[in-house]
Amino acid sequence: MMARLEKFRAFIAAQTGIALDADRYYMVDTRLLPVMRANKIALLDTLLDQAMAGTDTALTQSVIEAMLTCETFFFRDRPVFQVFREEILPEMMAARQNTRRLRIWCAAASTGQEPYSLAMILDENASVLKGWQVEIVATDISASALEIARSGFYNQFEVQRGLPVTQLLRYFVREQDRWRIAEHLRSRIEFNQLNLKKDFRYIGDFDIIFCRNVLMYFDTDTKRDILGRMSDAVADDGWLLLGATENTSGLAKDLVPDIRIPAGYRPRNHASASGRVLKMMPMRA
Ligand SMILES: C[S@@+](CC[C@H](N)C(=O)[O-])C[C@H]1O[C@@H](n2cnc3c(N)ncnc32)[C@H](O)[C@@H]1O
Repeated sequence: MMARLEKFRAFIAAQTGIALDADRYYMVDTRLLPVMRANKIALLDTLLDQAMAGTDTALTQSVIEAMLTCETFFFRDRPVFQVFREEILPEMMAARQNTRRLRIWCAAASTGQEPYSLAMILDENASVLKGWQVEIVATDISASALEIARSGFYNQFEVQRGLPVTQLLRYFVREQDRWRIAEHLRSRIEFNQLNLKKDFRYIGDFDIIFCRNVLMYFDTDTKRDILGRMSDAVADDGWLLLGATENTSGLAKDLVPDIRIPAGYRPRNHASASGRVLKMMPMRA
């Protein structure tokens, strides 16, 4: 069994970048039990073998999905959204006066609460953004999370987590026992399935990238690789925002933290010109 779990660990790492912790192999069991039941498979070994064989793509996808952690909520890490509203957005607007175009990417958007939180802030700034083209591209590896995100339906518990009541009443409509986000916010977000392990150059360059609370699940090489490709995808004067407990230490020589925001990074060239960054020890990567 241990050898099969090791093989499964390598399989999940190759497919998603997620590093399953050997101390937490029990998680494989608990998370895959519903998949076993749904597919009438009695033994975990059988399920793992079939998933890794890849002949039944739907089964493989269900197994991969079961290993993802899609925890999220509205305005998660409130100070990040405050700095976005009060500093990043006005600064980026000043820098883009000529083109009047901004591109924002939520790179692990899960069930949508993060891009919708941004969409609410943009909506609150609708008068100053008149005539601007602001794109929000929201991606995730999980098809089922994206389905919820696209639908815009949330239950009572989900709307009570992080969402101020004024925003709930302003931007959601009650539909029986659920709440649905307003159509004008839903339609301004482009949701797409995207695996960060794979090439993402095709989605273009961005002024601001939110890549929060996902790198922490990856092994070091995957983190370094993704951060490197994200540094290439972010504008020279743009921002990369990680989760509040994440950092790029030793992983990304082209990114430097900005003092104004926890886990906010800027491309090194811009950062040294602006002088607003933390003085850091040279990074090892
Ligand atoms: C904990 S959630 C974070 C959601 C949101 N960014 C936040 O901070 O609240 C992590 C998300 O990363 C996604 N994810 C995991 N591996 C991924 C990969 N290789 N490519 C893209 N998304 C991935 C999961 O499906 C999950 O929705």
